[in-house]
Amino acid sequence: MTFGADIIDINMGCPAKKVCNKAAGSALMQDEALVKDILTAVVNAVDIPVTLKMRTGWNVTNKNAPTIAKIAQDVGIQMLSVHGRTREDKYNGMAEYDTIKEVKSRVSIPVIANGDITSAKKAQKVLDYTSADGVMVGRATQGNPWIIHEIDHYLKTGQKAADIPLNIKKQTILDHISQIHQFYGEKLGTQLSRKHIFWYATYLDKESGQSFWKKVNKITDHKLQYQLLEEFLNS
Ligand SMILES: Cc1cc2nc3c(=O)[nH]c(=O)nc-3n(C[C@H](O)[C@H](O)[C@H](O)COP(=O)(O)O)c2cc1C
Repeated sequence: MTFGADIIDINMGCPAKKVCNKAAGSALMQDEALVKDILTAVVNAVDIPVTLKMRTGWNVTNKNAPTIAKIAQDVGIQMLSVHGRTREDKYNGMAEYDTIKEVKSRVSIPVIANGDITSAKKAQKVLDYTSADGVMVGRATQGNPWIIHEIDHYLKTGQKAADIPLNIKKQTILDHISQIHQFYGEKLGTQLSRKHIFWYATYLDKESGQSFWKKVNKITDHKLQYQLLEEFLNS
């Protein structure tokens, strides 16, 4: 908070082993009393809004997100985001929205639906089904951050957004990679850029993107990485 954060979002949605083995991330959902203590402590420690991100539960027989939602609201959490999978699901199968619908019916604070929202129409369908107050989009933005605008426009107007010109998308990609290099430094920036370059290149053209990726993936020099990306985008 002293660094100027506007809100604190507590993450109880992470299924990673290195996090869950320490009773953090989605593993926390197993211990509702501990969840209550942690949420209460954080809410009392700061005077900015505290929000909570969680999964639907621990596993298919323990979908306790609705119970935790109520606990969270009672101790002062101001918004909930729910990913429609359990911790045990990891990323397998498809997200389900019944539990999110149930969460929404139990609390009056805003509820954000998350999981497998990959298009504007799907976003509308999930909102209609769950009555959630908003949607959160993760993996569908990888390589295609413009999907946020597409979804936002569709939800506001019911119309498909006008296509963003390809030259604008290409410049945005180059700016993004350049900013990663600047922010993280040459070595780490080059490493971290690789996944974004893969996502962008295969979003623009799956086949040529994959063969370009094989070439650029091995590059360790940030200037050469940028230059090859520029050449690919202009080809
Ligand atoms: C590479 C990756 C990193 C993620 N990191 C976080 C994280 O730090 N905190 C979090 O709450 N969720 C994290 N998530 C989960 C997403 O926020 C989201 O809940 C999940 O991917 C489901 O939404 P989606 O189907 O739209 O991707 C991550 C997901 C992925 C794929």
